[in-house]
Amino acid sequence: MSETALPAAPHIVIFDSGVGGLSILQAARQQLPHCRFSYLSDNGGFPYGNKPANQVIERACQVLEAFAAQVQDVDIYVVACNTASTLALPRLRRHFTRPVVGVVPAIKPAAEISKNRYIGLLATPGTVKRSYTKRLIQEFAHDCQTVCVGSSALVELAERKLRQRPVDSQELLAILAPLLTASKTNPTPDRLDTLVLACTHFPLLAAEIQQVLGEHIRLIDSGSAIARRIEYWTERIEPIGLDPKLPTYAWFTKTAPEIAELSAALPAFGFSESRILR
Ligand code: DGL
Repeated sequence: MSETALPAAPHIVIFDSGVGGLSILQAARQQLPHCRFSYLSDNGGFPYGNKPANQVIERACQVLEAFAAQVQDVDIYVVACNTASTLALPRLRRHFTRPVVGVVPAIKPAAEISKNRYIGLLATPGTVKRSYTKRLIQEFAHDCQTVCVGSSALVELAERKLRQRPVDSQELLAILAPLLTASKTNPTPDRLDTLVLACTHFPLLAAEIQQVLGEHIRLIDSGSAIARRIEYWTERIEPIGLDPKLPTYAWFTKTAPEIAELSAALPAFGFSESRILR
């Protein structure tokens, strides 16, 4: 009896400096269950959020190019890192012939829904100071008050959470203090009501952030928008087309202890095995 070949499934690689891109992967898997997903964490270059722009560009390009040389059936590249996307997308798009999807701060949708015209931006220090981010605010939220908080410590908290370590609520409170002030001290019609999670690590802490700031604050992340963008490309490309049942992996750029510490979390994101990028 001859076996009927399964249709080719697009292979998508989700890339971040650390575990943050898993928040994008979750949204993408949900929307595109027929696709094959690999995850690529540059844990050897982590963190990106406090590094100079040229260093982030060089590193992100170098890692993705090394991945493409080793895993040759990738259909769509997703830079699931705001810090890298706001800097490296033009160069990556010039380099790769396949689509490169990026994630940028969701300032436009936040400004569209903010009733009080007061939005917060929570990102890495790098993303907060980038001219790309300032231009987004200027273009889409010029009629809104904005409060921007850049925090590398919050990125670390998300990394720790995925390693099954408790999230320090005092530390979280200290990081979120300027947003808490903006959301509580003014009378209702004037206070902050919408917060952009402009670092892919932060949706992994959405429940904890919501608990500190209160249910009246709308948290906006880029997960479903990126999933829709990936879907757009899956409908327009011809997959390279390896067997859709071939396993995919969570890839890292540096060996343990990071990887061993994540072994309890990774299966929930669909990965039972990891690999090291050479
Ligand atoms: N997850 C990354 C982002 O979206 C950055 C984390 C870091 O490496 O600092 O910006």
